[in-house]
Amino acid sequence: MKKLLSLTLLLGLSTISMADAPLDNELKQAMAATGNIKNGKQVFKLCIVCHGTEGWGTIDGNYPQIAGQHPSVIIKQIADIRAGNRDNPIMFPIAQIKVMGGPQSIADVTAYIGTLKMTRKPELGKGDNLAKGEKLFYRKCAECHGANGQGDEKRFYPRLAGQHYDYVLRQLKWIQSGKRRNANKTMQKRIQKFKLADFEALADYISRLEPPKEITAPIGWKNPDFQ
Ligand code: HEC
Ligand code: HEC
Repeated sequence: MKKLLSLTLLLGLSTISMADAPLDNELKQAMAATGNIKNGKQVFKLCIVCHGTEGWGTIDGNYPQIAGQHPSVIIKQIADIRAGNRDNPIMFPIAQIKVMGGPQSIADVTAYIGTLKMTRKPELGKGDNLAKGEKLFYRKCAECHGANGQGDEKRFYPRLAGQHYDYVLRQLKWIQSGKRRNANKTMQKRIQKFKLADFEALADYISRLEPPKEITAPIGWKNPDFQ
C-alpha cells in the first residue's frame, strides 16, 4: 500500500514537472510557425477517428467539435494535452511528438483545421432553462468568451458557440472541480458555487448560440478531402 502511494506520488510529481517545461516553448514555437495546410491534412488523418473527417466531433459530446475553433486555442490545447497540463488520456498517445510530430506539425494541423467549417447541428440540451442560461452567460462569461460566445483568438479564449452540449457540460464540471487543470483561474473561482442545474442551463444556452454563417458548413456537408 505504502509502495503504491509513493509510486503515485512519484508519477504525480513527474507529471507536474513535465507540464511546465515544454509547454511554454512548444506553445511559442507552434504559434510562431507558419502552418502548412497540405502537411496538416496528413497529420489530420490521425484526428479523424475521434473528431471526424469534418472536425465536428460527435453528437454525444464525447469528442468536441474542433472546426471553427481559434487557431491559438487549438495550439494551446494540444500543447497542454501533450505536456500533461490538461488530462486527456484518450488523446494523449496520439498527441505525442513521435506520433503527431513537433511544434511545426501542431501549426500544420491547426492550419488544416482552419479550413474546416462548423456544423450547424451540434448536440443541444433539453431547452427547458434557456432564460437562466442566457442570464448567467451574460453576467458571468460574456466578458471573456464574448456576447455571442465567439471567444478571442488573441487571448486564447475558446469559441464556445455551437459546441456540443455534453462536452461543454463536462468541461464546466471539470473546471469547477479542478480536474481541468489548465482552466483560467478567474473563471474557475467564478463558478465555484454553481449547481448542476446552472451548468446544464449554461451548456444548453451555449450550444444554441449560432456561430457566424461564414464559418458554418451547409447541413449535410462532407469533407471532400476524405471521401
Ligand atoms: C482517440 C481519440 C482522439 C484522437 C485520435 C484525437 N483526439 Fe483530440 N480530443 C479527444 C477528446 C476525448 C477530447 C476532449 C477531452 C475532454 O473532454 O477534455 C479532445 C480534445 C481536443 C482538443 C481540445 C478542444 C477544445 O475545445 O478545447 C483539440 C484542439 C484536439 N482534441 C485536437 C486534436 C487533433 C488536432 C488531433 C489529431 C492530431 C486529435 N485531437 C486527435 C480525443 C481524440
Ligand atoms: C476571465 C475570463 C473567463 C471567464 C470570465 C470565463 N471563462 Fe471560460 N475560459 C477562459 C479561458 C482562458 C479558457 C481556456 C483555458 C485553457 O487554456 O484551458 C476557458 C475555457 C472554457 C471552456 C472550455 C472550452 C473548450 O473548448 O474546451 C468552457 C466550456 C468555458 N470556458 C465556459 C465558461 C463559462 C460557461 C463561463 C461563465 C460561467 C466562463 N467560461 C467564464 C476564460 C474565461
